[in-house]
Amino acid sequence: MPHTDTPHKRKLFIETVGCQMNVLDSELVVAALRQTGYELTDDIREADAILFNTCSVREHAEHKIYSHLGRLKHAKRRRPDCVIVVMGCMAQKDQQLIFERAPHVDLVVGTGQLREIPRLIEQARRDREQRLAVSLHRKAGSRQAVAASFESYDPLRTPEMRPSPFQAFVRIMIGCDKFCTYCVVPMTRGPEQCRPPSQIAAEVRVLADQGVREVTLLGQTVNSYAAVENGRQYRLHDLLELIHDTGGIDRIKFVTNYPRDLSDELLQAVRDLPKVCRYLHVPAQSGCNDVLRRMKRGYTVEEYREMIARIRSTVPGCAVSSDFIVGFCGETEKSFERSMDLIRDCRFKNSFIFKYSPRPGTKAYELYEDDVPEEIKRRRNNEMLALQNRISEEDNAAFIGRRVEVLVEGPSKAAEKAGASGPDAPVQLVGRTDCDRIVVFDGHPRLAGSLATIEIHDCTSTTLIGSIVTHEITHGASVSLPIVQ
Ligand code: SAH
Ligand code: SF4
Ligand code: F3S
Repeated sequence: MPHTDTPHKRKLFIETVGCQMNVLDSELVVAALRQTGYELTDDIREADAILFNTCSVREHAEHKIYSHLGRLKHAKRRRPDCVIVVMGCMAQKDQQLIFERAPHVDLVVGTGQLREIPRLIEQARRDREQRLAVSLHRKAGSRQAVAASFESYDPLRTPEMRPSPFQAFVRIMIGCDKFCTYCVVPMTRGPEQCRPPSQIAAEVRVLADQGVREVTLLGQTVNSYAAVENGRQYRLHDLLELIHDTGGIDRIKFVTNYPRDLSDELLQAVRDLPKVCRYLHVPAQSGCNDVLRRMKRGYTVEEYREMIARIRSTVPGCAVSSDFIVGFCGETEKSFERSMDLIRDCRFKNSFIFKYSPRPGTKAYELYEDDVPEEIKRRRNNEMLALQNRISEEDNAAFIGRRVEVLVEGPSKAAEKAGASGPDAPVQLVGRTDCDRIVVFDGHPRLAGSLATIEIHDCTSTTLIGSIVTHEITHGASVSLPIVQ
């Protein structure tokens, strides 16, 4: 295998869609490939390996990947030794179908087989054979056998692959056993399996030593975490306590929460542990009990409201965000209005709103007709977005005149687009409060990775706008900062 500093490194292009799990998986796969002598390129035409990390949660996400793959047909003809890899959720879901629809693809690698990618790429370079590496279908064996075929991929972390050197995702569990009727994730990510607490704590320690200040714990239903180690039972709040005192870590977040499993102990941990951010993403999906029942979400809207009331009374100032699906099978105008009522009453910080997309292989696809026409889905989507934006803007306006502490993430997108105007010139920076609000302000790019106090003087529905009051002395040796990349 070539050593990392061979003069002619092979080039690797990767495109990632989907959720944070995919962002983490891409980081880990790229890190592994770098160790075998690859380097990243932004130019797909010069790549020796092209990886697509895919998502199947909605049809649209799959369409985009298939059409992108289609466009690569000619490139592959020109450069037959370029290895094309489809990895992630769509790889696990569509399997052989990907080779049928895009015969120039070399490798199809599911979410549970990512460890194999470097070896499979080498093999494909040598023999140009197509290979499929996927986990068992959920009905193809005992729970144990299916679970064993989905491997959680968490190799040693290498800092240079992270979107920022001071923020990192940490997987605490894989898979999902909730089987909401609309959702492919239990198929694409397999059975729910939790990593041992000691492994997670060790990974957080390694990350802190590499200069990470903020970790986000990841799980499809992160607050359902349950593991036994050395005879002791750990739930999410125990895990938060376990990692809380890791030196160097200032902020701990976790996503995504499942409403029914949001315990009082967890809320008390969010209230009492100072590094845990006062921010909870707890998707409601709908405000109508008939719809929730057909979605098999496992709670009523009354229970969801009661849960929100518990959050508000236990953790004052906690920001709550949500997901909603509009136009699910059988959603009437009345059901939709109930979702709007829920948004009005809960005043979410923000909501991600999706039009229902029927997914083959799910219960909803089998049992219910996709009976809400596209234009009605679109209208409901827009109305809901307008309501949520109005609420977000009103609640953001309450911050005007106040001071907030942010972790500075780096130059804003606008500043990046404008290009660097010199390494020492102030640029527009972006950071987040501990309640996950986005804040923009002018400052030196070197502040990235430090904490700053910002006075807010304006806002939009998505962003607080302010100016720096104080900031930390930018830190030293252990962190190398990616100034305007
Ligand atoms: N595990 C997380 C997120 C799953 S996918 C959770 O349970 O909340 C992210 C979001 O995509 C979901 O919350 C849901 O709102 C949306 N989603 C999932 N399947 C969908 C589908 N078939 N059509 C439209 N939106 C969907
Ligand atoms: Fe999908 Fe439901 Fe699992 Fe979330 S909890 S990943 S929506 S099945
Ligand atoms: Fe998509 Fe898979 Fe995440 S389907 S949302 S990438 S778990």
